[in-house]
Amino acid sequence: MKSNIPARVKIIDVGPRDGLQNEKQQVPPEVKIALVQRLQDAGLKEIEVTSYVSPKWVPQMADNHAVMAGITRRADVRYSVLTPNLKGWEAAAADKPDEIVVFGAASEAFSQKNINCSIAESIERFAPVVEAALAAGVAVRGAMSCTVGCPYEGDIAPERVAYLAGLMRGIGVQRVDVADTIGVGTPLKVQRAIAATLKHFGIDDVSGHFHDTYGQALANTLAALELGVWNYQSSIAGLGGCPYAKGATGNVATEDLVYMLQGMGIETGIDLDKLVDAGQYISDFLGRKPQSRVAVALLNKRAG
Ligand code: HMG
Ligand code: MG
Repeated sequence: MKSNIPARVKIIDVGPRDGLQNEKQQVPPEVKIALVQRLQDAGLKEIEVTSYVSPKWVPQMADNHAVMAGITRRADVRYSVLTPNLKGWEAAAADKPDEIVVFGAASEAFSQKNINCSIAESIERFAPVVEAALAAGVAVRGAMSCTVGCPYEGDIAPERVAYLAGLMRGIGVQRVDVADTIGVGTPLKVQRAIAATLKHFGIDDVSGHFHDTYGQALANTLAALELGVWNYQSSIAGLGGCPYAKGATGNVATEDLVYMLQGMGIETGIDLDKLVDAGQYISDFLGRKPQSRVAVALLNKRAG
Protein backbone atom coordinates (compact mmCIF):
# COMPACT_ATOMS: atom_id res chain seq x y z
CA MET A 1 0.00 0.00 0.00
CA LYS A 2 1.46 3.36 -1.03
CA SER A 3 1.64 5.81 1.84
CA ASN A 4 2.59 9.45 1.99
CA ILE A 5 3.38 9.17 5.69
CA PRO A 6 6.79 10.76 6.19
CA ALA A 7 9.71 8.92 7.77
CA ARG A 8 10.71 11.98 9.79
CA VAL A 9 8.80 14.79 11.50
CA LYS A 10 10.01 18.16 12.70
CA ILE A 11 8.27 19.61 15.73
CA ILE A 12 8.14 23.24 16.74
CA ASP A 13 7.34 23.48 20.43
CA VAL A 14 5.16 26.56 20.86
CA GLY A 15 4.74 26.09 24.62
CA PRO A 16 6.73 29.12 25.77
CA ARG A 17 4.59 31.35 23.50
CA ASP A 18 1.20 29.80 22.60
CA GLY A 19 1.31 27.71 25.76
CA LEU A 20 1.99 30.46 28.25
CA GLN A 21 0.36 33.50 26.58
CA ASN A 22 -3.00 32.71 28.11
CA GLU A 23 -1.82 32.04 31.67
CA LYS A 24 -3.35 34.45 34.14
CA GLN A 25 -0.49 34.30 36.66
CA GLN A 26 2.62 36.04 35.37
CA VAL A 27 5.31 33.44 34.69
CA PRO A 28 8.70 35.02 35.43
CA PRO A 29 11.25 35.17 32.61
CA GLU A 30 13.60 32.82 34.50
CA VAL A 31 10.98 30.08 34.34
CA LYS A 32 10.38 30.63 30.62
CA ILE A 33 14.14 30.57 30.03
CA ALA A 34 14.47 27.32 32.01
CA LEU A 35 11.61 25.83 30.01
CA VAL A 36 13.30 26.69 26.71
CA GLN A 37 16.48 25.10 28.05
CA ARG A 38 14.67 21.89 28.96
CA LEU A 39 12.99 21.74 25.56
CA GLN A 40 16.27 22.00 23.72
CA ASP A 41 17.83 19.46 26.10
CA ALA A 42 15.03 17.10 25.09
CA GLY A 43 16.03 17.49 21.43
CA LEU A 44 13.62 20.14 20.14
CA LYS A 45 15.20 21.90 17.15
CA GLU A 46 12.56 24.61 16.83
CA ILE A 47 11.08 26.59 19.69
CA GLU A 48 8.56 29.45 19.51
CA VAL A 49 9.89 31.55 22.34
CA THR A 50 7.73 34.67 22.69
CA SER A 51 5.79 37.38 20.90
CA TYR A 52 6.24 41.10 20.36
CA VAL A 53 2.65 42.19 20.71
CA SER A 54 0.98 44.88 22.75
CA PRO A 55 1.52 44.21 26.48
CA LYS A 56 -1.96 45.63 27.02
CA TRP A 57 -3.39 42.86 24.85
CA VAL A 58 -1.18 40.00 26.06
CA PRO A 59 0.55 40.94 29.35
CA GLN A 60 2.21 37.52 29.68
CA MET A 61 4.51 38.23 26.72
CA ALA A 62 5.68 41.64 27.95
CA ASP A 63 9.00 40.13 29.05
CA ASN A 64 9.97 39.18 25.47
CA HIS A 65 13.35 40.95 25.58
CA ALA A 66 14.33 39.40 28.92
CA VAL A 67 13.42 35.93 27.74
CA MET A 68 15.24 36.21 24.40
CA ALA A 69 18.29 37.70 26.12
CA GLY A 70 18.31 35.01 28.80
CA ILE A 71 18.14 31.83 26.73
CA THR A 72 21.33 29.96 25.92
CA ARG A 73 21.10 29.57 22.19
CA ARG A 74 22.31 26.56 20.28
CA ALA A 75 23.41 26.85 16.68
CA ASP A 76 21.25 23.87 15.65
CA VAL A 77 18.05 25.22 17.19
CA ARG A 78 15.74 27.70 15.47
CA TYR A 79 14.16 30.26 17.79
CA SER A 80 11.02 31.92 16.44
CA VAL A 81 8.91 34.83 17.69
CA LEU A 82 5.59 36.43 16.72
CA THR A 83 5.56 39.90 15.18
CA PRO A 84 2.17 41.38 14.16
CA ASN A 85 3.42 44.68 12.74
CA LEU A 86 6.51 46.85 12.14
CA LYS A 87 6.65 47.90 15.76
CA GLY A 88 6.80 44.24 16.72
CA TRP A 89 9.45 43.51 14.11
CA GLU A 90 11.63 46.41 15.26
CA ALA A 91 11.45 45.21 18.86
CA ALA A 92 12.12 41.61 17.83
CA ALA A 93 14.99 42.44 15.49
CA ALA A 94 17.05 43.68 18.43
CA ASP A 95 16.85 40.17 19.90
CA LYS A 96 17.92 38.44 16.68
CA PRO A 97 15.35 35.68 16.28
CA ASP A 98 16.00 33.04 13.60
CA GLU A 99 12.46 33.29 12.33
CA ILE A 100 9.55 35.65 12.76
CA VAL A 101 5.90 34.74 12.50
CA VAL A 102 3.25 37.00 11.06
CA PHE A 103 -0.18 35.80 12.08
CA GLY A 104 -3.37 36.20 10.10
CA ALA A 105 -6.74 34.51 10.07
CA ALA A 106 -8.99 32.86 7.51
CA SER A 107 -11.90 34.43 9.36
CA GLU A 108 -12.60 38.18 9.26
CA ALA A 109 -14.12 38.25 12.74
CA PHE A 110 -11.15 36.50 14.32
CA SER A 111 -8.73 38.82 12.53
CA GLN A 112 -10.55 41.78 14.08
CA LYS A 113 -10.65 40.29 17.57
CA ASN A 114 -7.07 39.05 17.57
CA ILE A 115 -5.14 41.78 15.80
CA ASN A 116 -7.71 44.55 15.51
CA CYS A 117 -7.82 44.77 11.72
CA SER A 118 -9.32 43.09 8.66
CA ILE A 119 -7.57 40.33 6.73
CA ALA A 120 -6.68 42.77 3.95
CA GLU A 121 -5.30 45.31 6.46
CA SER A 122 -3.30 42.57 8.19
CA ILE A 123 -1.60 41.69 4.93
CA GLU A 124 -0.77 45.38 4.39
CA ARG A 125 0.80 45.44 7.86
CA PHE A 126 2.67 42.19 7.35
CA ALA A 127 4.17 43.08 3.97
CA PRO A 128 6.82 45.52 5.25
CA VAL A 129 7.56 43.19 8.19
CA VAL A 130 8.21 40.29 5.82
CA GLU A 131 10.34 42.50 3.59
CA ALA A 132 12.44 43.79 6.47
CA ALA A 133 12.92 40.34 7.99
CA LEU A 134 13.98 38.75 4.73
CA ALA A 135 16.37 41.64 4.06
CA ALA A 136 17.90 41.02 7.50
CA GLY A 137 18.32 37.31 6.74
CA VAL A 138 15.56 36.26 9.15
CA ALA A 139 13.19 33.51 8.02
CA VAL A 140 9.46 34.22 7.81
CA ARG A 141 6.57 31.95 8.71
CA GLY A 142 2.89 32.81 8.48
CA ALA A 143 0.37 31.45 10.96
CA MET A 144 -3.12 31.04 9.53
CA SER A 145 -5.71 30.93 12.30
CA CYS A 146 -9.21 29.51 12.10
CA THR A 147 -8.60 27.37 9.04
CA VAL A 148 -11.43 25.00 9.90
CA GLY A 149 -13.57 26.86 12.37
CA CYS A 150 -13.89 30.24 14.03
CA PRO A 151 -15.33 31.06 17.45
CA TYR A 152 -17.33 33.91 15.91
CA GLU A 153 -18.13 32.71 12.36
CA GLY A 154 -18.43 28.92 12.73
CA ASP A 155 -17.25 26.68 9.88
CA ILE A 156 -14.64 28.14 7.57
CA ALA A 157 -14.66 27.10 3.91
CA PRO A 158 -11.40 25.80 2.38
CA GLU A 159 -11.62 28.56 -0.25
CA ARG A 160 -10.99 31.13 2.47
CA VAL A 161 -7.91 29.23 3.56
CA ALA A 162 -6.66 29.15 -0.03
CA TYR A 163 -7.33 32.90 -0.28
CA LEU A 164 -5.28 33.66 2.84
CA ALA A 165 -2.48 31.28 1.82
CA GLY A 166 -2.32 33.08 -1.55
CA LEU A 167 -2.07 36.46 0.17
CA MET A 168 0.70 35.15 2.46
CA ARG A 169 2.60 33.75 -0.52
CA GLY A 170 2.14 37.06 -2.36
CA ILE A 171 3.99 39.04 0.31
CA GLY A 172 6.89 36.59 0.50
CA VAL A 173 6.01 34.44 3.51
CA GLN A 174 8.18 31.33 3.19
CA ARG A 175 6.08 28.72 4.98
CA VAL A 176 2.71 28.59 6.69
CA ASP A 177 0.93 26.96 9.61
CA VAL A 178 -2.53 25.56 9.09
CA ALA A 179 -3.99 26.30 12.50
CA ASP A 180 -7.10 24.89 14.09
CA THR A 181 -7.17 27.67 16.67
CA ILE A 182 -10.13 26.41 18.65
CA GLY A 183 -9.62 22.69 18.14
CA VAL A 184 -12.96 22.02 16.46
CA GLY A 185 -11.51 20.35 13.40
CA THR A 186 -11.94 16.72 12.45
CA PRO A 187 -9.67 14.80 10.06
CA LEU A 188 -11.40 15.36 6.72
CA LYS A 189 -11.97 19.06 7.38
CA VAL A 190 -8.34 19.45 8.31
CA GLN A 191 -7.28 17.63 5.14
CA ARG A 192 -9.40 20.05 3.09
CA ALA A 193 -7.75 23.06 4.77
CA ILE A 194 -4.33 21.59 4.05
CA ALA A 195 -5.23 20.80 0.45
CA ALA A 196 -6.35 24.44 0.04
CA THR A 197 -3.01 25.63 1.42
CA LEU A 198 -1.09 23.32 -0.92
CA LYS A 199 -2.43 25.41 -3.83
CA HIS A 200 0.10 28.05 -2.80
CA PHE A 201 2.79 26.29 -0.74
CA GLY A 202 4.74 23.08 -1.23
CA ILE A 203 4.35 20.22 1.22
CA ASP A 204 7.70 21.02 2.88
CA ASP A 205 6.43 24.51 3.72
CA VAL A 206 3.16 23.61 5.40
CA SER A 207 2.86 22.77 9.07
CA GLY A 208 -0.02 21.56 11.20
CA HIS A 209 -0.96 23.53 14.34
CA PHE A 210 -3.81 21.76 16.05
CA HIS A 211 -5.37 22.79 19.32
CA ASP A 212 -6.90 19.89 21.20
CA THR A 213 -10.08 21.42 22.63
CA TYR A 214 -12.32 18.63 21.33
CA GLY A 215 -9.71 15.89 21.63
CA GLN A 216 -9.19 15.65 17.87
CA ALA A 217 -5.64 16.92 17.52
CA LEU A 218 -3.90 13.55 17.21
CA ALA A 219 -6.49 12.29 14.74
CA ASN A 220 -6.03 15.52 12.79
CA THR A 221 -2.27 15.03 12.89
CA LEU A 222 -2.64 11.54 11.47
CA ALA A 223 -4.83 12.96 8.71
CA ALA A 224 -2.16 15.56 7.92
CA LEU A 225 0.57 12.90 8.00
CA GLU A 226 -1.38 10.96 5.38
CA LEU A 227 -1.10 13.99 3.09
CA GLY A 228 2.68 14.03 3.67
CA VAL A 229 2.82 17.00 6.07
CA TRP A 230 5.96 16.56 8.18
CA ASN A 231 6.10 19.81 10.21
CA TYR A 232 3.95 20.19 13.32
CA GLN A 233 3.51 22.56 16.20
CA SER A 234 2.67 21.31 19.63
CA SER A 235 2.87 22.59 23.16
CA ILE A 236 4.74 21.03 26.03
CA ALA A 237 2.33 19.64 28.63
CA GLY A 238 -0.53 20.68 26.33
CA LEU A 239 -0.32 24.22 27.69
CA GLY A 240 -2.19 27.05 26.17
CA GLY A 241 -5.02 28.68 24.37
CA CYS A 242 -5.57 31.95 22.62
CA PRO A 243 -6.85 34.92 24.66
CA TYR A 244 -9.09 35.85 21.70
CA ALA A 245 -10.59 32.35 21.30
CA LYS A 246 -12.53 31.90 24.51
CA GLY A 247 -12.74 28.33 25.78
CA ALA A 248 -10.12 27.01 23.40
CA THR A 249 -7.53 24.86 25.12
CA GLY A 250 -3.90 24.22 24.33
CA ASN A 251 -2.20 22.70 21.34
CA VAL A 252 -1.76 18.97 21.18
CA ALA A 253 0.76 18.09 23.90
CA THR A 254 4.26 17.55 22.54
CA GLU A 255 4.55 14.43 24.71
CA ASP A 256 1.41 12.91 23.09
CA LEU A 257 2.58 13.81 19.60
CA VAL A 258 6.05 12.34 20.11
CA TYR A 259 4.64 9.15 21.62
CA MET A 260 2.36 8.63 18.62
CA LEU A 261 5.11 9.38 16.10
CA GLN A 262 7.62 7.12 17.86
CA GLY A 263 5.03 4.34 17.93
CA MET A 264 4.61 4.74 14.16
CA GLY A 265 8.37 4.47 13.64
CA ILE A 266 8.60 8.14 12.59
CA GLU A 267 11.83 9.83 13.57
CA THR A 268 11.59 13.03 15.67
CA GLY A 269 15.02 13.29 17.32
CA ILE A 270 13.26 13.88 20.64
CA ASP A 271 13.95 12.11 23.93
CA LEU A 272 10.50 11.41 25.38
CA ASP A 273 11.77 11.03 28.97
CA LYS A 274 13.47 14.42 28.91
CA LEU A 275 10.38 15.88 27.29
CA VAL A 276 8.25 14.59 30.15
CA ASP A 277 10.72 16.24 32.56
CA ALA A 278 10.27 19.55 30.73
CA GLY A 279 6.48 19.22 30.95
CA GLN A 280 6.65 18.34 34.62
CA TYR A 281 8.85 21.34 35.30
CA ILE A 282 6.40 23.87 33.88
CA SER A 283 3.33 22.04 35.21
CA ASP A 284 4.83 22.04 38.72
CA PHE A 285 5.41 25.76 38.41
CA LEU A 286 1.80 26.30 37.33
CA GLY A 287 0.57 24.00 40.09
CA ARG A 288 -1.22 21.42 37.96
CA LYS A 289 -0.76 18.10 36.20
CA PRO A 290 0.46 18.11 32.60
CA GLN A 291 -2.43 18.21 30.11
CA SER A 292 -0.90 15.22 28.36
CA ARG A 293 -2.20 11.68 28.68
CA VAL A 294 1.23 10.32 27.78
CA ALA A 295 3.03 12.49 30.35
CA VAL A 296 0.60 11.50 33.11
CA ALA A 297 0.91 7.80 32.18
CA LEU A 298 4.72 7.94 32.15
CA LEU A 299 4.86 9.90 35.42
CA ASN A 300 2.55 7.34 37.06
CA LYS A 301 4.76 4.56 35.75
CA ARG A 302 7.84 6.27 37.18
CA ALA A 303 6.14 6.75 40.54
CA GLY A 304 5.05 3.11 40.59
P1 HMG B 1 -3.80 48.12 17.82
O1 HMG B 1 -4.40 48.68 19.06
O2 HMG B 1 -4.66 48.06 16.60
O3 HMG B 1 -2.42 48.81 17.45
O4 HMG B 1 -3.27 46.66 18.15
P2 HMG B 1 -2.02 50.31 17.25
O5 HMG B 1 -0.99 50.31 16.18
O6 HMG B 1 -3.24 51.17 17.08
O7 HMG B 1 -1.32 50.71 18.64
C1 HMG B 1 -2.04 50.75 19.87
C2 HMG B 1 -1.07 50.64 21.03
O8 HMG B 1 -0.40 49.37 20.99
C3 HMG B 1 0.04 51.69 21.00
O9 HMG B 1 0.42 51.93 22.36
C4 HMG B 1 1.17 50.98 20.32
O10 HMG B 1 2.42 51.51 20.63
C5 HMG B 1 1.01 49.60 20.87
P3 HMG B 1 -0.18 53.15 23.21
O11 HMG B 1 0.18 54.37 22.40
O12 HMG B 1 -1.68 52.92 23.33
O13 HMG B 1 0.53 53.03 24.54
N1 HMG B 1 1.56 48.55 19.97
C6 HMG B 1 2.49 47.65 20.33
N2 HMG B 1 3.14 47.44 21.49
C7 HMG B 1 4.04 46.44 21.52
N3 HMG B 1 4.31 45.64 20.46
C8 HMG B 1 3.68 45.83 19.29
C9 HMG B 1 2.73 46.88 19.19
N4 HMG B 1 1.94 47.32 18.21
C10 HMG B 1 1.24 48.35 18.68
N5 HMG B 1 3.95 45.04 18.25
C11 HMG B 1 -1.90 44.70 17.85
C12 HMG B 1 -2.69 45.81 17.16
C13 HMG B 1 -1.61 43.63 16.82
C14 HMG B 1 -0.63 45.28 18.42
C15 HMG B 1 -2.78 44.15 19.00
O14 HMG B 1 -4.00 43.76 18.45
C16 HMG B 1 -2.15 42.97 19.69
O15 HMG B 1 -1.12 43.05 20.32
N6 HMG B 1 -2.83 41.79 19.62
C17 HMG B 1 -2.36 40.59 20.31
C18 HMG B 1 -2.45 39.46 19.37
C19 HMG B 1 -1.91 38.20 20.01
O16 HMG B 1 -0.81 38.18 20.52
N7 HMG B 1 -2.72 37.12 19.94
C20 HMG B 1 -2.27 35.85 20.37
C21 HMG B 1 -1.27 35.25 19.43
S1 HMG B 1 -1.98 34.62 17.91
C22 HMG B 1 -2.40 33.00 18.31
O17 HMG B 1 -2.29 32.59 19.44
C23 HMG B 1 -2.83 32.09 17.19
C24 HMG B 1 -1.73 31.14 16.74
O18 HMG B 1 -1.28 30.32 17.80
C25 HMG B 1 -2.25 30.24 15.63
C26 HMG B 1 -3.60 29.62 16.02
O19 HMG B 1 -3.67 28.81 16.92
O20 HMG B 1 -4.55 30.06 15.38
C27 HMG B 1 -0.52 31.89 16.18
MG1 MG C 1 -2.31 28.56 18.51
